Amino acid sequence: MAVYYCKEKQTFTLQTKKSTYQMKVDDHGVLLHTYFGSVMDGSDLSYVIAKRDRGFSGNPADSIYQREYSLDCLPQEYPVFGNGDFRIDGFCMQGESGACSCDLRYRDYTIYEGKYHLEGLPALFADKEDKTVSTLEVVLKDQFSELYVRLLYGVFEETGAITRSVIVENHTGKPVQLHRVLSACVDFDRSDLEMIHFYGKHTLERQFECQPLMHGISGIRSTRGTSSHQHNPFVILKEKHTTEDVGGCYGFSLLYSGGFEAKVEVDQSDTARFLMGIEEENFCYTLEDKETFTAPEVCMIYTDKGMTDLSHCYHDTYMKHLIRSWWKDKKRPVLVNNWEATYFDFNAEKLLAIAKEAANLGLDMMVLDDGWFGKRDSDNSGLGDWFVNEEKLGCSLKELVDKINAMGLKFGIWFEPEMISEDSDLYRRHPEWAFKIPGREPVRSRNQLVLDFSRKDVREYVEERLYAIMDSANIEYIKWDMNRSINDVYSALLPPSRQGEVLHRYVLGLYEVTEHLLQRYPKLLLEGCSGGGGRFDAGMLYYAPQIWCSDNTDAIERTRIQYGTSFCYPMSSVSAHVSVCPNHQNGRVTPLKTRAICAMQGTFGYELDISKMTDEEKDEVRRQIQTYNEHYALFQFGDYYRLSSPFENQDYVAWEYAAKDKSYAVISIIFTDVHANAYPTRVRFKGLCESAVYEVRGEQYTGSALMHGGYRIGMPEGNYDSFMLYAKRV
Ligand code: DGJ
Repeated sequence: MAVYYCKEKQTFTLQTKKSTYQMKVDDHGVLLHTYFGSVMDGSDLSYVIAKRDRGFSGNPADSIYQREYSLDCLPQEYPVFGNGDFRIDGFCMQGESGACSCDLRYRDYTIYEGKYHLEGLPALFADKEDKTVSTLEVVLKDQFSELYVRLLYGVFEETGAITRSVIVENHTGKPVQLHRVLSACVDFDRSDLEMIHFYGKHTLERQFECQPLMHGISGIRSTRGTSSHQHNPFVILKEKHTTEDVGGCYGFSLLYSGGFEAKVEVDQSDTARFLMGIEEENFCYTLEDKETFTAPEVCMIYTDKGMTDLSHCYHDTYMKHLIRSWWKDKKRPVLVNNWEATYFDFNAEKLLAIAKEAANLGLDMMVLDDGWFGKRDSDNSGLGDWFVNEEKLGCSLKELVDKINAMGLKFGIWFEPEMISEDSDLYRRHPEWAFKIPGREPVRSRNQLVLDFSRKDVREYVEERLYAIMDSANIEYIKWDMNRSINDVYSALLPPSRQGEVLHRYVLGLYEVTEHLLQRYPKLLLEGCSGGGGRFDAGMLYYAPQIWCSDNTDAIERTRIQYGTSFCYPMSSVSAHVSVCPNHQNGRVTPLKTRAICAMQGTFGYELDISKMTDEEKDEVRRQIQTYNEHYALFQFGDYYRLSSPFENQDYVAWEYAAKDKSYAVISIIFTDVHANAYPTRVRFKGLCESAVYEVRGEQYTGSALMHGGYRIGMPEGNYDSFMLYAKRV
């Protein structure tokens, strides 16, 4: 068991192979945070906490005349609003009096083998027989009411993950209003840290940014009802000199697909407090007596071995303990998607021409994107009418799918279940199903409104339609899209006082529908999507093992997007396609080879009209698919190394996959610039066995040579050239 309780010292210590985490109940019953960092022996570290009167810091009722005791200065596990701690906090509740105040003190604890479960929310899991995972639950109670807060900790000894969640239980006999229930807080006795986060926009998601912490509050958030393109619910706090290979860094990943916030406050004493959870501006939850509220889970990992190790820990944790899909250990189908090939302008004939060529070239699956249902020849209409437009197709869906299957291809289809067009039969029947505020015109985006997924009747309609389509033909994959941010949040079924719950209930509704879908079709390959990577988060990975990484398919911009994505998310979750040139998003022309190398960084596919390719291009595609099929295990399950940063190096981007048994590795390198009189680039392998001998391009080298001396590759032949370099153990 990796959770240790010391009765004498009143400490709880969580031990993983990577880190130690400690908390302590002090004499006042306050749950202090005493340590999170490199593995240590579990000694009570509360002695290092500096206690002294810092001026203008409140003293709680039970420490009157003890001016050096203030919650404003103490590192705490779960700081709350209204008890004399004036820093940012994780919890704010409003009781019967109308005042916001709370003072949580320790009550009880439980330790057990295995991982706690969160009802209706994504969460890491452990197999029953896995003895390396354990749970600690600590119960806190408000000093002045029967309000209980249960802090949950899941400890994954092997991968280094420590998860946190919070369950609020109301036994006050009256409703209370929850204004803020964040999922995790970590207090650091230092502020000389840097924060890495991944900002962006539609078609340029997860851009790397690193900045030192500053006095005051800094942070990121999404108020869009989804995790968003603009910010990602993953943050790293690192020591100044930490690099890919050495140094301390903390990762915080929220398993939630709705609005979120992550913030740090550096206070008057140069301590830093980190908080993460549901975004509070759109949140107010009425908790009736005897009801509970569960906050989504945060997965925290610390390593003192640099950011590559941090990423490996996340990748391994998410592959083993988060992604449940039947597909997670299987070779993902190499697919062709018709979106960039046809947009809305297709019929069965065009689709079959693409499918025929796909089968010829050795692809595994054909995916029919937007436009096959209702009246949908543009993005102005039809959403919600999930009935096949046979007139447009020229046949039934079953006929189309049967023909595609007969060519030896699987078939997948696109849905956008959470949306409704005003120009749709569904809207004409049920205008009240869309988010709209009474008496106001709604904000439109892509000319569509959002269905109120907090409503059971809406969810039931969507499920009925999804199942009807799924049952009508042999569909083995769904691309679940979501193409706008959420506004006009109002549910016709909830009273005014509960409108602050709608966005969270929406997310729970989304999780419920996807859960039901997967229970009904356990072998379905579900691909997440939100205008590309607008909902690329660990919450979605619990349902969808792969997510369309970005609507930007340009190989060069993709290297930046995929680089940022790689810090937290396993590369097999990064859906990436080869598209046509000039690229539809930015007009850039890159070689077909480079587009394929870039797409092989993730889950590989094509998104162009392959029936229009030249014979030469088709031969090249055939070879690309052979390469992918030969090495898919490495790309999906190998250890991923970032060898250069596209945000620093302007000349090339390089990354590597190394087999976990170190038997072989592949470096991919894409040149982003060319120079006259240039000098050939040298890359150094990582993750090989020092003493083993490897073959690279017909020559033999020791792992040591390849890792320390590296390998000098050829010069780029023109713009955006690229190479793959294999090292095979002999
Ligand atoms: C946005 C997605 O990211 C695209 O790939 C495509 O599916 C369109 N939506 C279809 O409307």
